[in-house]
Amino acid sequence: MKISLNHSTQNYPDLLVVPIIKGSNESECLSSISKLTGISPSILQTDFKSALKESHTLYYQEDKTSKRIVLLGLGENPGFQDVLAAFRSLLFKRKSSLRGKMGISFHLGNAPADPSNWIEAAVSGTILGHYKIGLYKTSETGDWDAGKSRISLELFVGKDVANKAKAAADKGKKIAETQLEIFDLVNAPANKKTPDTLAKWALQSGKTHGYEVKVLDKKEIVKLGLHALLAVNQGSENPPTFIIMEYKPKGKALKKIGLVGKGVTFDTGGLSIKPSTNMHYMKSDMGGAAAVMGTVEVAAKLKLPFHIMGVVPATENSVDSKSIKPGDVIGSYDGKTIEVIDTDAEGRLILADGLAYTVRNFKPDILIDLATLTGSCIRTLGTYAGGLFSNNNSLAADILAVSQQTGERLWQLPMWDDYKKEIKSDVADIKNFSGNPSAGAITAAKFLEAFIQGHPSWAHMDIAGVAVSDSEFSSQKSATAFGIRLLIAYLQNMEGKGKP
Ligand code: BES
Ligand code: MN
Ligand code: ZN
Repeated sequence: MKISLNHSTQNYPDLLVVPIIKGSNESECLSSISKLTGISPSILQTDFKSALKESHTLYYQEDKTSKRIVLLGLGENPGFQDVLAAFRSLLFKRKSSLRGKMGISFHLGNAPADPSNWIEAAVSGTILGHYKIGLYKTSETGDWDAGKSRISLELFVGKDVANKAKAAADKGKKIAETQLEIFDLVNAPANKKTPDTLAKWALQSGKTHGYEVKVLDKKEIVKLGLHALLAVNQGSENPPTFIIMEYKPKGKALKKIGLVGKGVTFDTGGLSIKPSTNMHYMKSDMGGAAAVMGTVEVAAKLKLPFHIMGVVPATENSVDSKSIKPGDVIGSYDGKTIEVIDTDAEGRLILADGLAYTVRNFKPDILIDLATLTGSCIRTLGTYAGGLFSNNNSLAADILAVSQQTGERLWQLPMWDDYKKEIKSDVADIKNFSGNPSAGAITAAKFLEAFIQGHPSWAHMDIAGVAVSDSEFSSQKSATAFGIRLLIAYLQNMEGKGKP
């Protein structure tokens, strides 16, 4: 999608979107719209309430050409995610009619003096609104092209904020374009997505965006001793992959960041098999991996000054006579033995190896993992927030602050050592499930903690409830690309500039 800036306050294209907040000199905004269109402010005020996602098209004549202004409501006190949602919704609903040049005015409405955040959100929302979920449809049901916007954007902003506006638009575009790919990856069914598919995606991304990707195959995984990953994989016909993405900045890196993502391409539960209701959603059990892969890609596109290692252990969790059985004792890369009480608690097993590998071989300053780890986290927080766990309060505070900015909500849950005794095993060093359903997200986090090699600043995000969600964009739950913007904003905040 082409994006340009325009500093003029007239000669708008024949399609101009004006985002408007409720309750902040709305009437002044509407009277400037009235001057342009000739429609009386009182009629505008009666018909348009600036509610979030509300939109109204006004038609007017200028120099003998017909033009349109779309008033786009943002509601009261909109956050970043509201502005993004309003644009995404507008473009999604009108994708077949909106085409050609689309202007967005950041001064006709009541945007903040520095509209950078709105610009990033508007650009991302516009791009994401074009997402087409019907990857496998053989005939077109709509009259628009998959993922290809037929819109070019012209952003109307003051000259004084031109540089910031440009950077914000660029960031909004880079993040959203990666998120579109991540949507496809997460929404793909398991017969089109194996551990090898994730590996190929990473290799291609590394080639395109100039960072290094190493993929370990089963033989190398055996040699390295990633025993927990191998144990989860042993019931699957598709071999595991262990994906290592490494982005190094040109100049000096501010910090080394280790990211680990759960890459279960389908989770049947194994012999502790899941009920069939909703089992199809377990194709998205690689949402953590997708977040890590997308973040490394965007970091490379934005050339962030951090040395980042993205690690993804990838496997299916399948049912077979070769599958691990409840009660089996397995090894791990770390050396600890694990009693597998429940084969459906597989995510923590592969993450154990991913985390231990990353700390030992990369020695990151900060270690973050993301995983669709527990149903318990969904029972605790619903689908409105992910669970955050950390052994470092200042890291947790930084992540929580950033999550408020981007609207990718997280809520911190405790990590007290009391929970640790729940996963003590009689026969092995540790067990993968307490055997009782209480505090399941926390005991899962305590399990992971046992494999971070004493790393002092580690955070774990349980994104089971937020990696896919219900939305106006699909009839079933679909991918959100949760975590990418959050991690990018976290890194940029650390760099000391840039809010989402
Ligand atoms: N992938 C699931 C967690 C999950 C559940 C993600 C629902 C998204 C939606 C995970 O591997 C799992 O099965 N966890 C079990 C662990 C239990 C057996 C200790 C769970 O939470 O039920
Ligand atoms: Mn499971
Ligand atoms: Zn799982």
